[in-house]
Amino acid sequence: YVIGIDLGTSAVKVLLLDRSGTVAAEASRDYPLYHEHSGWSEQSPEDWVTGTVQALRELVESAGVPADAIEGISFSGQMHGLVLLDSAGNPVRKAILWNDTRTTAECREIEALVGHEQLLTVTRNPALEGFTLPKILWVRKHEPEVFAQAVSFLLPKDYVRYRLTGALHMDYSDAAGTLLLDVAGKRWSSDVLEAVKLPASFCPPLVESHAMTGTLLPEQAAACGLSADTKVFAGGADNACGAIGSGILQEGLTMCSIGTSGVILSYEQGSGNDFRGKVHFFNHGKEDAFYAMGVTLAAGYSLSWFKNTFAKGESYDELLQGAGDVKPGSNGLLFTPYLVGERTPHPDSVIRGSFIGIDGSHERIHFARAVMEGITFSLNESVDMFRQAGKTVDTIISIGGGAQNPVWLQMQADIFNADVVALENEQGPGLGAAMLAAYGSGWFESLNACAELFVKRSSVYKPNPAAVDAYAGLFRIYQDIYAQTRGLN
Ligand code: XUL
Repeated sequence: YVIGIDLGTSAVKVLLLDRSGTVAAEASRDYPLYHEHSGWSEQSPEDWVTGTVQALRELVESAGVPADAIEGISFSGQMHGLVLLDSAGNPVRKAILWNDTRTTAECREIEALVGHEQLLTVTRNPALEGFTLPKILWVRKHEPEVFAQAVSFLLPKDYVRYRLTGALHMDYSDAAGTLLLDVAGKRWSSDVLEAVKLPASFCPPLVESHAMTGTLLPEQAAACGLSADTKVFAGGADNACGAIGSGILQEGLTMCSIGTSGVILSYEQGSGNDFRGKVHFFNHGKEDAFYAMGVTLAAGYSLSWFKNTFAKGESYDELLQGAGDVKPGSNGLLFTPYLVGERTPHPDSVIRGSFIGIDGSHERIHFARAVMEGITFSLNESVDMFRQAGKTVDTIISIGGGAQNPVWLQMQADIFNADVVALENEQGPGLGAAMLAAYGSGWFESLNACAELFVKRSSVYKPNPAAVDAYAGLFRIYQDIYAQTRGLN
């Protein structure tokens, strides 16, 4: 057996997989988010550790398999979150997460210190609020006495792995989201570090996602109900692991993931075409491969906001009942999902969302469908960008919350004008994490070979020509809303 740990933004989910890739058991634990000020988003690293240990214990107990039958564990982690450590390895403050937008000034500072073109050439990405380096500079500027204690930093899943094994590491796919990595060269960028005046010692050792980083500390193994011989593999960024878990391991494959955030991700074998900062460009969890990705900050979050605000206490099934009977376009109602700003194609942390075209006949279900359509339109801006850059996007593997609902899957096919494939018993990034442990343990000679057995496609949703036409017209109006609503807040 192997275990995949998916350390997400709202919860940690753990999966036990057997040698055929079948899920033998699962468990999860939620943890809180702290929004002390508008635009801030923080979590307690200790909550991640406690939640992970408890979920692992429940997993092992419920599976009823002997601890020594579990060969390896690995991780998928929410990206970009900053955990600053003191010399004893303790966090000096709460972690600042990917969806925290306090760092606009620091992004401008980084662009000025490093130079926009140089930053794009080395890190392949522009400075964006969500990335890690701006968060480091924010703490240095605003909490100097806290920063003075910090000697190094980790990303969320690296911190949990560190607590389980006692060893500090970061894998390339997650390090790529820090804005400190030379992405093509696979090393910390001394140019960027010097420009922002951070010592090289601040950065942890880099490893491949399938690299073994150690075994479990005896006391942690006991707390989790695992053997201290269990091998611990580095793991990867959640989007890289989502790509692995949905078989996005060769050119020509694209993924749509709708979780709290939403992404359109394209596999890139080389670093030659990096889209010059229009989309993110990161190292894959598969060695020597890359991916390009557009991000919608509030994807599933927009729908959960809508449900919590207008349908509190109801399930998503109740909220969305009848959504399939409303025609494409929600009877003229359009929604932009900029609840916490946007990333692609508008790197803008202050833009806010809108409902446009409200008619006296609209009911709650029209609004609910419009929210799903608006999220999908936002993702379609990334699909559009890939197509404009000359990529063929004709098959999209859909994962996450957006893949749980057949109406939403058909909507994706119609808005993206591509075949949308759903997976059997889809497990998202957790499966990718478990696959890294399976590959690292030597079960397969490559991740691709592992995917052939572990990733099972179920249904294909084909675009419906009439709906494609209707959506193409609405998408042009949707694209105009951004410029028209800037400055509203
Ligand atoms: C990617 C991003 C999000 C997080 C979610 O750049 O910020 O998709 O990875 O955990």
